[in-house]
Amino acid sequence: MLPEVTATRYVTPLREGGSLPGIVEADDLGTYVMKFTGAGQGRKTLVAEVICGTLAQRLGLRVPDLVRMQLDPVIGKAEPDEEVQELLKASGGLNLGMDFLPGALGFDPLAYEVGPREAGEVVWFDALVNNVDRSWRNPNMLVWHGDLWLIDHGATMIWHHNWPTAAASAAKPYDASDHALAPFGPDLASAAERLAPLVTEDLLARCAADVPDEWLEGEPGFDSTDAVRGAYTEVLAARARTIHERVTLGEPTRDRPSQAPGWLTGRLAPRREAGEVK
Ligand SMILES: Nc1ncnc2c1ncn2[C@@H]1O[C@H](COP(=O)(O)OP(=O)(O)OP(=O)(O)O)[C@@H](O)[C@H]1O
Ligand SMILES: [Mg+2]
Repeated sequence: MLPEVTATRYVTPLREGGSLPGIVEADDLGTYVMKFTGAGQGRKTLVAEVICGTLAQRLGLRVPDLVRMQLDPVIGKAEPDEEVQELLKASGGLNLGMDFLPGALGFDPLAYEVGPREAGEVVWFDALVNNVDRSWRNPNMLVWHGDLWLIDHGATMIWHHNWPTAAASAAKPYDASDHALAPFGPDLASAAERLAPLVTEDLLARCAADVPDEWLEGEPGFDSTDAVRGAYTEVLAARARTIHERVTLGEPTRDRPSQAPGWLTGRLAPRREAGEVK
């Protein structure tokens, strides 16, 4: 289970995030990026953050530590922004926290060089979890103390939005042409050789066990939260075995309209209007 902390001070919103995450201090004296259960993206985004964030960590990729974060919306009382007030009010109770990396810079492919081995591991991992949110438009990677860190795994495992078609959806290929690390010659074959054998049902079950019950309860088609956890484990274990054979690494298609699903396009729309993403 993830460690649990209690939020003590809402510091500031992170406006570059579509879900309006906030920087929040907690009773363990840590500072976290808080992802709210009351955000429009829904609790599945948080489930994806936990399963994929802890899986990446267990595979040796750098992801800031995750915690369960208890929120009493009263801590946001002095916050002048109404949107933030509403978000806090809608998010009382359990939320997700990610260790805040102070001074981290957003990944810039022109300013930071990634080797083929590391690029291969990140692209293989993103293919495994079908991450559609690590493109050159929105890399969702940070550079901190000279190292690459992965953040924002909310838009992964698209199949969990429709469990009856999950197996068929998870059997589909992964187009990495627009991946932010595609230009770095990712060595997918050796990444698969190293990482795929580590993605066992046992390892996946530990990642799924990190998801709080209350984010899995009442999932249509399942009679227990452990059954939902089992579904995540099964789909990812099957995908791990062969996904490297189904990754496309073509030319980045800068003008292509987004292939992202509607719920994700909705997430990006406000930023597109603001001219932040194309
Ligand atoms: N652990 C962290 N440490 C430092 N900065 C962070 C951290 N996590 C997120 N950020 C900053 O906050 C921004 C928004 O975070 P994140 O991408 O996780 O939010 P989101 O709402 O899911 O975003 P998106 O709009 O990409 O879907 C990041 O682009 C980054 O600049
Ligand atoms: Mg993001």
